[in-house]
Amino acid sequence: MNERQEKKDITRYVDALLYPETNPFQTEIAQFEELMMMYTCAIKEVQTKLEVLNTDFSVRYKRNPIEFITSRLKRPASIAAKLKAKKIPLSVKAIKSNLNDAAGIRVICSFIDDIYAVAERLVRQDDITLIDAKDYIMHPKPNGYRSLHLIVEVPVFFADHTRDMRVEVQIRTIAMDFWASLDHQLKYKQDVENPEEITAALKKCADTIAQTDLDMQAIKNKIYGEEKMPIKKFNNLL
Ligand code: GTP
Ligand code: MG
Repeated sequence: MNERQEKKDITRYVDALLYPETNPFQTEIAQFEELMMMYTCAIKEVQTKLEVLNTDFSVRYKRNPIEFITSRLKRPASIAAKLKAKKIPLSVKAIKSNLNDAAGIRVICSFIDDIYAVAERLVRQDDITLIDAKDYIMHPKPNGYRSLHLIVEVPVFFADHTRDMRVEVQIRTIAMDFWASLDHQLKYKQDVENPEEITAALKKCADTIAQTDLDMQAIKNKIYGEEKMPIKKFNNLL
């Protein structure tokens, strides 16, 4: 690159930073950053609700239904790839109206009934709107994947406005999480020799793990007694 061209590029770059309104691309970047900030805040809102539930449970029932919570903001490259796969042109507006999982929270519970107890108490809160629920525990995916997926909308109060923001909440047991993270790792490895054999072996592991979850649940019920049908209560909310 010659010196003149380089200077021109630097000037353009500085102009874009100083006068974003004159540069549509820069405006889009600023809007994207604002949207990501809003999703970060939505994660905080929902995560706090889950932490409050866990704390309340620990006082009320002397045990914690939640082992741990993780969260993630979808990376720009994954956002772009998902919109491309859906054949939707990349824009801030398109992200807002087409992606439900830009903000994601994963809740890891000890037992299966804890999953439904937490989900039910989150979804019935006045300011939470349930947009969608997929119960891959009652209806596992063919590969053996199990988890309860909720898409919820939560109002977030910013300095000058309030926005309803969508958050994907995945709730699963420690065992289901263990399986899902190995499954996820193996998906990235393309050059395996016997893919069918591996798929079958993974499915077998998923079923073994599911049985262990049921056995652990039965032991827990013997020790603590059964919570009154959290699954039914949750399904009544859908
Ligand atoms: P995505 O476009 O992948 O978000 O799927 P979807 O919109 O059809 O939603 P779904 O509820 O089926 O899956 C959402 C998320 O659940 C995924 O992004 C993964 O994080 C997780 N998930 C779904 N299926 C599997 C699976 O078979 N294995 C693993 N490890 N994770 C899964
Ligand atoms: Mg996803």
